[in-house]
Amino acid sequence: MYPDRVRLPSLLGKLMSAAEAASLIQDGMTVGMSGFTRAGEAKAVPLALAERARGTPLRISLMTGASLGNDLDKQLTEAGVLARRMPFQVDATLRKAINAGEVMFIDQHLSETVEQLRNHQLKLPDIAVIEAVAITEQGHIVPTTSVGNSASFAIFAKQVIVEINLAHNPNLEGLHDIYIPTYRPTRTPIPLTRADDRIGSTAIPIDPAKIVAIVVTDQPDSPSTVLPPDAETQAIADHLIDFFKREVAAGRMSNSLGPLQAGIGSIANAVMCGLIESPFEGLTMYSEVLQDSTFELIDAGKLRFASGSSITLSNRRNADVFGNLERYKDKLVLRPQEISNHPEVVRRLGIIGINTALEFDIYGNVNSTHVGGTRMMNGIGGSGDFARNAHLAIFVTKSIAKGGAISSVVPMVSHVDHSEHDVDILVTEQGLADLRGLAPRERARVIIDNCVHPDYRAALNDYFQRACTKGGHTPHLLREALDWHINLEETGRMLAG
Ligand code: COA
Repeated sequence: MYPDRVRLPSLLGKLMSAAEAASLIQDGMTVGMSGFTRAGEAKAVPLALAERARGTPLRISLMTGASLGNDLDKQLTEAGVLARRMPFQVDATLRKAINAGEVMFIDQHLSETVEQLRNHQLKLPDIAVIEAVAITEQGHIVPTTSVGNSASFAIFAKQVIVEINLAHNPNLEGLHDIYIPTYRPTRTPIPLTRADDRIGSTAIPIDPAKIVAIVVTDQPDSPSTVLPPDAETQAIADHLIDFFKREVAAGRMSNSLGPLQAGIGSIANAVMCGLIESPFEGLTMYSEVLQDSTFELIDAGKLRFASGSSITLSNRRNADVFGNLERYKDKLVLRPQEISNHPEVVRRLGIIGINTALEFDIYGNVNSTHVGGTRMMNGIGGSGDFARNAHLAIFVTKSIAKGGAISSVVPMVSHVDHSEHDVDILVTEQGLADLRGLAPRERARVIIDNCVHPDYRAALNDYFQRACTKGGHTPHLLREALDWHINLEETGRMLAG
């Protein structure tokens, strides 16, 4: 059975059911699972684990690359399996449990999880569960639509369960580039100087003796939930493209810009789609997740090469891309997330990082994670890996949320993920604020004039002017600075009226 998928014959004896494999996971274990932005997650074993926990309670610490698809975080939460979860999630049920204090969520820069494991700052996984298209003749694991943290989880874990997923095109083999940094103090530079460099192997090298179970599945990845561009996201894209044109005209960037990174979500996807009609050519991406827009840009002849850690597509795009992988294969690579997001590489390549904010303040501090300063939305993801080290750190958001009850530009953010020191450009559908080289008082003027929704502009001007009369390098009225958030909590609106 499956000799083309399990090419080391001695491993064929490890084939078993998902329930049998899940029984290897014990109460109190730390488990590392594949999966990044709803792509390439192990599917059958976590479901079997949730099923078992409904009858026989057990709790684990679960690490993944990033978010899981197929409602797995929901199922695991409802079954009470998750004691601790890191480093990212996007699931509504899990989010509720995190905000109720029932699941301890460790919200990490996505490049850092395996570095902390490598240095024993986090407990190593007892067991890893990795989705694969195949196991090679050497017993090495060929991942599917994401690499995420899978390689290091498999290397660090004592035992490895492999889920061979027949729903994935076996032609994914060859797409991955697995490079693992060496240990300190003799760490050498990551030998990657271009987005399209290949520096590692096409499979995860582990001792095949660690593979304790192989489960065969055929459940596809969940489709992406990205919405098509609307008038506001299109306006954000237009402002950004005009800005890029000015940068090219000023000689600060070439017509192929720099390697682009685009965060998760509809806004970032829309911005990338906006580049299809732009004058820029020979674009490259050095990003985490490759979304529909990546393939639209390749098809339009605009994007020359895309490096990522996962591919997450809509239903519409899925069959076309994975059914015609040959068309794209020489233009793509999937890397471990510590390499796709590595600060050393981000700084060296001069990445243009485009990520989404929940809110930002008049001085340029960005909140990407906490609604009202307390309730976790998703997590910081890779946005911090890129923003601090990028050639241009760009944050985009619509100027208002919840039908205008919320202004995304506030006097003071209720939580800081990206400090003013890390943020170069802010964009809403209203306009773009270029903060480079500006002092806080200058930044406030540019942000209020360009990014704020007209319904909130007078109130922000008033706050800023009164704060300036008090003095200070970064003027604030501390008794008022968080009033808008308090109003929202108490009345459902940031401002009365
Ligand atoms: N206060 C409260 N809620 C807000 C808000 C604010 N200031 N701004 C937006 N929201 C709400 C929206 O209303 C929407 O709610 P809904 O789901 O109930 O409709 C939700 O947040 C998502 O906002 P949306 O405008 O649809 O943007 P998005 O889907 O692109 O998500 C983030 C925005 C910030 C939540 C998302 O990009 C994220 O999690 N970022 C952090 C991780 C990251 O940047 N990773 C990048 C590397 S991949």
